[in-house]
Amino acid sequence: MTNLSSQIGELRSVIINSLVAFSIIVSFIILFYQGQKVQLVPMAVKHKHQEMQDKMAAEHHEQRGELSLSVPDPGREECNWSTGRWVYDNVSRPLYSGLKCTFIFPELACDKYGRKDVMYQHWRWQPHGCDLPRFDAIRLLEKLRNKRLVFVGDSLNRNQWVSLVCMVEASIPDARHKMRSINGSLISFKALEYNATIDFYWSPLLLESNSDNPIIHRVEYRIIRADKIEKHASFWRDADIIIFNSYVWWRKHKADMRMKVMYGSFEDGDARLDEVEMIDGFEIALKKLTEWLGKNIDKNKTRIFFAGSSPTHSWASNWGGEGKNKCLNETEPIYKVGYKAADYSMMEKAKSYFGTLEEKGIHIQILNITELSDYRKDGHPTVFRKQFAPLTKEQIMNPASYADCIHWCLPGVPDVWNEFLYGYLMYK
Ligand SMILES: *[C@@H]1O[C@H](CO)[C@@H](O)[C@H](O)[C@H]1NC(C)=O
Ligand SMILES: *[C@@H]1O[C@H](CO)[C@@H](O)[C@H](O)[C@H]1NC(C)=O
Ligand SMILES: *[C@@H]1O[C@H](CO)[C@@H](O)[C@H](O)[C@H]1NC(C)=O
Ligand SMILES: *[C@@H]1O[C@H](CO)[C@@H](O)[C@H](O)[C@H]1NC(C)=O
Ligand SMILES: *[C@@H]1O[C@H](CO)[C@@H](O)[C@H](O)[C@H]1NC(C)=O
Ligand SMILES: *[C@@H]1O[C@H](CO)[C@@H](O)[C@H](O)[C@H]1NC(C)=O
Ligand SMILES: *[C@@H]1O[C@H](CO)[C@@H](O)[C@H](O)[C@H]1NC(C)=O
Repeated sequence: MTNLSSQIGELRSVIINSLVAFSIIVSFIILFYQGQKVQLVPMAVKHKHQEMQDKMAAEHHEQRGELSLSVPDPGREECNWSTGRWVYDNVSRPLYSGLKCTFIFPELACDKYGRKDVMYQHWRWQPHGCDLPRFDAIRLLEKLRNKRLVFVGDSLNRNQWVSLVCMVEASIPDARHKMRSINGSLISFKALEYNATIDFYWSPLLLESNSDNPIIHRVEYRIIRADKIEKHASFWRDADIIIFNSYVWWRKHKADMRMKVMYGSFEDGDARLDEVEMIDGFEIALKKLTEWLGKNIDKNKTRIFFAGSSPTHSWASNWGGEGKNKCLNETEPIYKVGYKAADYSMMEKAKSYFGTLEEKGIHIQILNITELSDYRKDGHPTVFRKQFAPLTKEQIMNPASYADCIHWCLPGVPDVWNEFLYGYLMYK
């Protein structure tokens, strides 16, 4: 491709990305409109299915038991979970059924909305040199007894929240013992017998911003408030475990996209508006978050994680695919060892800011899931999802505008992110 045509290609992708972003926001409207008055959703779970799962789990246990003699200690220092390979494993994967998960969101329920190939559910992440600890929902719930875990961030972090809820709710067969409620920016799952809470709080730019309303926000014109985080922090300051994320909202849709930064306030009459590069906005947010955590976190009580950048697969030319299809009809991971398309530098930036808290004894653990997710061009919902209604025939025929190659089908890739989280909570 010549330089010019690749530029045009990029421009087209940018427009396409904006369209997907738009439709994603539309799906929020539906979700949260339904959730305006706190919504309680206890639902029946089929006991037969549970029996099946128990039986299968027991079988895995046996198989795993044999293996575990040779499995190194998962907490071992030298074992690096972030580098490894995907192994096809239709015996131990998926960890739950997406069709049976009571609390799955329609935009992630790919098999329910027409995705016929199922291989994407059957991949296990195999780090080099060790195994990830085997996920055990009951052990996690015991760990979370009388505790509150909260995911704070954007729709990718919400994707991880849905995954974790699906991973544990299959182990709570009695519908009376679990519930979900939605109140504005806060979505809450409770395992009642354990008094365990798993929340998601919408805060895509971490700081207070004009995107804080999960229903109504502009994609292009963004303003952050440089020194305001308290309103958000009040929703997570008491948590026992917090998982932050923030990545895609700082990425440019257009070459000239910049972040507006507001200092001071209208109330105090000292409001001032500045404009910076998106990446500099990210640093302003990191700086404020780090400062807040340093001042307010009780390191004896609260464990903090930062979820690594979640790569998108909207640009098929990255792996030699057909641009206009984006990631539609991709059924297998990228096998090229070391394939990297995401921006890894933002995570490095986050790491260096958080590093300044170490001297106060506050450690923020990065969940470094970027490379493993980068391989998974096959893992996205594309057109197999529900917005207002399932996509129309015309929309399905138009992946360039309607394929979502940003979020992840469930069961799928975010389950592995939660295996990392589980591993750190249990062993490290
Ligand atoms: C894991 O490996 C990657 C790539 O080699 C490296 O950048 C990272 O620092 C390693 N992490 C640990 C905890 O050793
Ligand atoms: C799992 O995959 C193998 C190899 O592709 C296949 O032979 C087998 O039938 C599959 N098993 C199930 C339960 O789908
Ligand atoms: C239930 O969990 C919350 C944290 O989410 C905690 O504050 C509260 O004390 C717990 N209740 C009991 C009875 O332990
Ligand atoms: C919803 O959240 C608001 C705070 O944002 C709180 O005042 C209100 O009590 C909550 N409603 C319910 C039913 O929990
Ligand atoms: C945290 O725990 C350490 C060691 O147990 C103790 O010395 C310290 O006072 C505790 N800090 C707070 C703020 O509770
Ligand atoms: C995707 O696969 C379906 C079913 O195999 C096929 O009908 C459709 O034309 C394919 N779409 C594209 C854009 O290749
Ligand atoms: C994350 O892991 C990748 C390898 O997968 C490595 O290149 C990168 O440096 C790591 N980033 C951080 C912040 O640890």
